[in-house]
Amino acid sequence: MINRLSKSIRQYRKVSLLAPFFVTLEVIMEVLVPTIMAYLIDNGINKGDMNAIGRIGFILIIACILSLIFGVLSGKYAAEASTGFAANLRKDMFYRVQDFSFANIDKFSSSSIVTRLTTDITNLQNAYQMIVRVAVRCPVMLVFALIMAFNVNHKLALVFLSAIPILGVGIFFIMKNAHPVFEKVFKMYDSLNLVVQENLRGMRVVKSFVREDFEEKKFKNVSKDIYDNSTKAEKLLMFNMPLMQFAMYGCILLISWFGAKLILTDSMTTGELMSMFSYATQILMSLMMFSMVFVMVTMSRASAERISEILDEESTLKNNSHPVFDVRDGSVDFENVFFSYSDTDSAPVLNNISLSIKSGDTIGIIGGTGSSKSSLVQLIPRLFDVTGGTVRVGGVDVRDYDIETLRDAVSMVLQKNELFSGTIKDNIRWGDENASDKDIERVCKLAQAHEFIKDFPDGYDTYIEQGGSNVSGGQKQRLCIARALLKKPKILILDDSTSAVDTKTDSLIRRAFAEEIPDTTKIIIAQRISSVQDSDKIIILENGHIDSMGTHSELMETSDIYRELYYSQMKGGEE
Ligand SMILES: Nc1ncnc2c1ncn2[C@@H]1O[C@H](COP(=O)(O)OP(=O)(O)OP(=O)(O)O)[C@@H](O)[C@H]1O
Ligand SMILES: [Mg+2]
Repeated sequence: MINRLSKSIRQYRKVSLLAPFFVTLEVIMEVLVPTIMAYLIDNGINKGDMNAIGRIGFILIIACILSLIFGVLSGKYAAEASTGFAANLRKDMFYRVQDFSFANIDKFSSSSIVTRLTTDITNLQNAYQMIVRVAVRCPVMLVFALIMAFNVNHKLALVFLSAIPILGVGIFFIMKNAHPVFEKVFKMYDSLNLVVQENLRGMRVVKSFVREDFEEKKFKNVSKDIYDNSTKAEKLLMFNMPLMQFAMYGCILLISWFGAKLILTDSMTTGELMSMFSYATQILMSLMMFSMVFVMVTMSRASAERISEILDEESTLKNNSHPVFDVRDGSVDFENVFFSYSDTDSAPVLNNISLSIKSGDTIGIIGGTGSSKSSLVQLIPRLFDVTGGTVRVGGVDVRDYDIETLRDAVSMVLQKNELFSGTIKDNIRWGDENASDKDIERVCKLAQAHEFIKDFPDGYDTYIEQGGSNVSGGQKQRLCIARALLKKPKILILDDSTSAVDTKTDSLIRRAFAEEIPDTTKIIIAQRISSVQDSDKIIILENGHIDSMGTHSELMETSDIYRELYYSQMKGGEE
């Protein structure tokens, strides 16, 4: 895990090393100060030698100034290193997530990915700053101060050695119990994000169903869970401070006791005793800081694990080692295709599907809700991989294509389509960044969107709010179709994409398709028979298998389901 994460340090390696370097220099200066002080007291003050006081005092000031400068430098580099590391990590994670398939995203859930990209990274950033600065400072300080203390009086220095194991055991006990609680808290942040995200995205639905109270309660529950568990974790960490204080004052008491005796027998000077107090503080403070670093590292270990999980996640869809970069034509073949969303599903969502679509044909797919229409077409641009059998586009297995090549050739308007904040032009350019204004107008005319766009005061520069909340459902659908057309795809898939468009406009769209893009294979999922009636072939799906297939007139003769649907829709169900 540490290897994986340290790859993100990259250009900040240098500052990550400079920070501990200056910390070490700072500590050396700090450790020298008490000894210089002792010297000042014994040789200057006690002897009343003003000359010596001036000389030693000057050295003291220099040491303090140097320590200050090194401290500032180490702080600056530590801040640069940790923020840079966090920025790199965020970038690496974000890029990784862009590669994720739908299945990968479903596995983590988008709210959890958001927490990992924000809260977890911040935790790690703080921990990293601690590591390059404080985690270096403490052991260096501990070692140097101990050496100096032993130098001054080795018997008295033994007092410190007895305090260290007591502290060590205490800190270990605290950490061991705190880690699992922190892990739990982070999982709860996921739930909190889920509640907030869902609520904000679905605000209109929440309001129209008057569910604010319910949503508030949901939020309160998650928030309270976080509160309870965080308190529990903090309660454990709380013992850290008193434990340290106990050890510190215990040491000072012991040193005073033994020190006083040593001074009385003339085996120690007052200056030396003073420096021992300073070293006691330095040693125990560095131990305390070290235990705080431990706390931070414990807290961030859970975060680090969650970040590594994302960085280590392999996309379930990967390019073949020798991918095909050319899609010959828009033909589609399914051969004994089985598909389930997860290994644990009992019955497959698609059951032994075989069909063949000629390039340039128009295919209609109808079937009840949940009959797997969307699941079937998602296999063509390889949004998911088949569980069994093969899907071919242009005669080549979709798994053999370069994914980008395939998705450029297969344009799909998803059932849950999405517009992004930006102008209409920006949104349509998603299909092709380099498209000219003329291209954009052409596809909007094809999708019957030109008319209403023209009527907006800002025309094609009209600003679309996030999620397309300021255009109507039918307008949004037509913009999504235009966007899909801009790629000049070989296969165009519309998954229930004209459901909110009136029948007249719907038929105009179909006529424009037939006239303007005759070579593109068009696969249209619809609830209305009129939307698929004049297709070259209509496929009726039922419970994940093909019930029947044929032209409108063939199906009228052979399929009961089709006939029933037709009469119920065309003649108000009188037959
Ligand atoms: N991402 C998913 N993960 C797990 N199961 C899913 C997922 N998407 C769909 N399903 C399941 O697959 C089955 C087929 O769903 P699908 O969306 O293909 O139906 P559909 O025919 O498109 O329905 P509709 O007309 O309502 O759009 C359903 O039982 C559904 O519960
Ligand atoms: Mg569907």
